[in-house]
Amino acid sequence: MQIRVAIARPWEVPADVLVVPILDEAALTGPAAELDRRSGGQLATLLAFGELGPKRFSTVVAGTASDPGASGARAPHLLAVQAGAAARLDRETVVHVAGAAMRRLSGRTVRTLAVWLDPLAGLDGGAEAAAELVGRGIVEGSYEPHRIYRDDAKAPPTLDELVLVTGSGSAEALTRAADRGRIIGEGANLARTLSNRSANDVSPEVLAEEAYGLARKHGLWIDVIGPEKATEMGMGLFMAVGRGSDNPPRMIVMRNGKQGATDALDRHLALVGKGVCFDSGGISIKPSDRMDEMKMDKTGACTVIAALVTAKRLAPELPLLVVAPAVENMPGPHSTRPGDLVKALNGKWVDIGNTDAEGRLILADGMTYAERLGATHVVDVATLTGAVGRALGELVSGLFGTDQAWIDDVQAAGLRAGERYWQLPLVEEYRDDMDSWYGDLVNFARNNEGGLVKSALFLKEFVTKPWVHLDIAGTAYFRKAHPWAPQGANGASHATLVELALAGAKA
Ligand code: BES
Ligand code: MN
Ligand code: ZN
Repeated sequence: MQIRVAIARPWEVPADVLVVPILDEAALTGPAAELDRRSGGQLATLLAFGELGPKRFSTVVAGTASDPGASGARAPHLLAVQAGAAARLDRETVVHVAGAAMRRLSGRTVRTLAVWLDPLAGLDGGAEAAAELVGRGIVEGSYEPHRIYRDDAKAPPTLDELVLVTGSGSAEALTRAADRGRIIGEGANLARTLSNRSANDVSPEVLAEEAYGLARKHGLWIDVIGPEKATEMGMGLFMAVGRGSDNPPRMIVMRNGKQGATDALDRHLALVGKGVCFDSGGISIKPSDRMDEMKMDKTGACTVIAALVTAKRLAPELPLLVVAPAVENMPGPHSTRPGDLVKALNGKWVDIGNTDAEGRLILADGMTYAERLGATHVVDVATLTGAVGRALGELVSGLFGTDQAWIDDVQAAGLRAGERYWQLPLVEEYRDDMDSWYGDLVNFARNNEGGLVKSALFLKEFVTKPWVHLDIAGTAYFRKAHPWAPQGANGASHATLVELALAGAKA
């Protein structure tokens, strides 16, 4: 898809469809009214008839007059998308408006799509921010998971050209912004496909193969540690989870730049992602209800790998480390049992209270290893607890951390990315419940009150540098489709991680 910016009025641009963002208006005014008048007036008629709901992301398609003449609109169709109140317009909304437009066109043939940018330029960051987020939203909105395994599924159209239409500004700067958005959207879609693929397709070995392929393609350093080496190195927590499956575990380590190299902010940032290719619970087996969703328990790993690829494409010199422990958590004759004692890479002894609290185990060794490789700042991303989804739902991820300045940096990156996080407290007093008779701590407290906080308190024992933990168990995938996104993995936190990393890019 080519992206072009047209400095023009919206009716002047030839395209198959022109997207018209509507800011809550019951009636069209100003240039929107003029656009409609030049298009034959259908949009105003449909709006007056109540065809465009007041809810954000509702859509209506209007035809333009068939013989518009010299002054008429040059696109045969307008697609109005409700963007909500102007005062509430934020980055997330802009991404979703573009996504909703693409999904509304599912099954249609559209080669050139024009988007009228001006109604969205009231965003903080102005037209450039809007261009980037529309570029990203168009790409993310074109994503159709049914296409992973079959090519006959109805999907949003494949565009040849996206034209952003705006009355003024630098076409060059706006094109650059939109292209940045396109690349971020492509990264999110890469994470989504890896994550959505089923567990009989993507084992830890296959995820590592995918990582090798991406490393080769994008010129990234990669090292994949198998079970023998991991055991020898002392990754006891990683192996405790991985040993139960016939599909052997893989510690995937990828990097751009040299070991320990620091960025413009003096950081060697490490992103650590939970890669549980299937989480049956292990010996502490899960109930069968919704167990199928646990093929997506590898989303954290898929997201950090994709974020590295995106960061490399946008800032080829930027140092960035990724550690993605990949395992399958299965019951079997070799599985770790409740009550087993295992030694972590950092030397702590962990008493396994519940084999279904496996994410924290593999992340712990992953973070220790990231620090050994020179990480100065750590962010881990994981579908860690059911509790975070119950607390915050599907639109807000949970966030914990040890260093408030670092937490604030991550929150700021989330704002730039249009993704929401809610900081939760590390309540030190609850650590007592995690004491173990035999080991240094348990992975699952007998008293699981505050289990969400305790999951983060566990992780904290395995990191010494400024650290943020993002629990995306509620947000990583949608159980039902939204106007802007289908069911399945949605790329949550990919854009945040990219923004966070790119803050350290040399200007
Ligand atoms: N992968 C799950 C968490 C999860 C639940 C992700 C629902 C997405 C949707 C995790 O490994 C898990 O099993 N967590 C347990 C922790 C408990 C055993 C302390 C949970 O949340 O019940
Ligand atoms: Mn589990
Ligand atoms: Zn899990």
